[in-house]
Amino acid sequence: MSDAINPLITEQLDALLYEETDLVANLANASALLMQTLTDVNWTGFYLYQKASDDLILGPFQGNVACVHIENGSGVCGTALATQAVQRVPDVHQFAGHIACDSASNSEVVVPLTLADGTQLGVMDIDSPSLDRFTVADQAVLEEFARVLLKHIDKV
Ligand code: SME
Repeated sequence: MSDAINPLITEQLDALLYEETDLVANLANASALLMQTLTDVNWTGFYLYQKASDDLILGPFQGNVACVHIENGSGVCGTALATQAVQRVPDVHQFAGHIACDSASNSEVVVPLTLADGTQLGVMDIDSPSLDRFTVADQAVLEEFARVLLKHIDKV
């Protein structure tokens, strides 16, 4: 059984990252906060955009070992990057081109991350072993979580 994601997680993140702007440290703690706080999730973390190769590379995360490179436009993460639109996928097995890093994942939300100056940072990826784990309200909390996170990142 999963619980609605508590909006207070955004305030917890804000406090956790207070006066720290290091990219790796903040992404690492953000992924740990998501894993510690959310119920019914098996992977929480980040893929970072690499301009030179125009793809995503694995960043800080909590969960099972995962794919290292994801092409722009490929899978749920690559689609979020290419479209710059949040992907809320109730059944990943119905998503054309889904990349099955962890066979336990059945639903996921991927939020694109763009810095204030327009630089693409990458994506935040949250996976669940349950089908249809994430509601529209959960998505809104995760989008706010991403906004707070970006506030604590200066540049890449
Ligand atoms: N599910 C993602 C791949 C990343 S892992 O699940 C950690 C996708 O299809 O983009």
